[in-house]
Amino acid sequence: MWRVAADGCGSGERIHDINNKGGSKVQNPYLPYPVRIDSMVTETEDGNLKTLKLVFLNPEDEARFKYIPGQFAELSVAGQGEVPIGIASSPTEPGHLMFTVNKVGRVTTHLHNMKPGSVMGVRGPMGNWYPWEQLEGKNVVIIGGGFAFTTLRSSVVYMIHPENRKRFGDITVVYGARSPGLLLYRDELAAWEQRDDIKMHITVDGTKDPDWKYNIGFVPAITKEKAPSSEDAYAIVCGPPIMIKFTLPVLTELGFPPERIITSLEMRMKCGIGMCGRCNIGTEYVCKDGPVFSLTQLAALPNEY
Ligand SMILES: Cc1cc2nc3c(=O)[nH]c(=O)nc-3n(C[C@H](O)[C@H](O)[C@H](O)COP(=O)(O)OP(=O)(O)OC[C@H]3O[C@@H](n4cnc5c(N)ncnc54)[C@H](O)[C@@H]3O)c2cc1C
Ligand code: FES
Repeated sequence: MWRVAADGCGSGERIHDINNKGGSKVQNPYLPYPVRIDSMVTETEDGNLKTLKLVFLNPEDEARFKYIPGQFAELSVAGQGEVPIGIASSPTEPGHLMFTVNKVGRVTTHLHNMKPGSVMGVRGPMGNWYPWEQLEGKNVVIIGGGFAFTTLRSSVVYMIHPENRKRFGDITVVYGARSPGLLLYRDELAAWEQRDDIKMHITVDGTKDPDWKYNIGFVPAITKEKAPSSEDAYAIVCGPPIMIKFTLPVLTELGFPPERIITSLEMRMKCGIGMCGRCNIGTEYVCKDGPVFSLTQLAALPNEY
């Protein structure tokens, strides 16, 4: 069975061993695993989002890189730097890692310009994950907006894997983008639409496409309209801050208590392992204690995110 185990992601397993002068092994958390770009797919019509499929150069590195949906990794380009990116593949998809990268600045532009066959680095997995042990046996409502759907894609693929599906109750997905051409993973969304064990509510803010057969409206409005039941349910919400801001009151209205509303934060990061102090909110390091938090946990933090 594909079951995630919290102890499978201990820091001892997610960092490299290197030989020191005495021949004994020490661990270097800053050393990336070398990976080859297997394929690059342009996801959106504006060309700003590309999905990279990466394959470990050394099979033993893949065995070390045990991750859980919700985690992220640092992608590195030699001579340019590193960026934290959510892991879009699922551990139920062995043989590669998948990341969807929005071109916004220096490193992400270099990532976009790389070609299949190029070698780059991956450091991780990092951070915590969605609370899979709590989600077991519960209904799960996934709410995503724009390119923040990456770790949500990982989660859906993980939950609908034949060996996992029975561990979860109803799965509802509300996913929106500004226009049809800006939705990620369109082939997969269409395939999920065909399944009878997942309720899909795809939406766009607007479209002139006469063939558009899904919803039109903002994610919070569609969530309200479809009104997924909060009974025995958790909601995982990732998206632009404005979407989250207007979705949270809807979920509260639907009866989701704050401890059952889960989100993931995207703070500026550097080390990714709780060493540099770049990402902290109050006493919490988003890279290490997060990026996944419940609303209850966020309410206890200073409003710096
Ligand atoms: C846990 C986590 C998961 C993430 N997952 C993804 C993902 O799946 N896909 C994806 O495309 N991006 C993701 N990001 C955001 C990504 O890390 C930033 O877009 C990236 O670091 C920008 O690097 P750059 O060198 O290209 O941009 P820079 O040249 O450093 O900056 C360009 C612009 O991007 C802004 N920026 C830089 N870093 C961040 C950041 N961390 N968050 C928001 N804005 C930033 C800057 O303010 C500036 O406006 C994630 C961030 C975190 C912390
Ligand atoms: S990024 Fe360095 S402490 Fe979080």
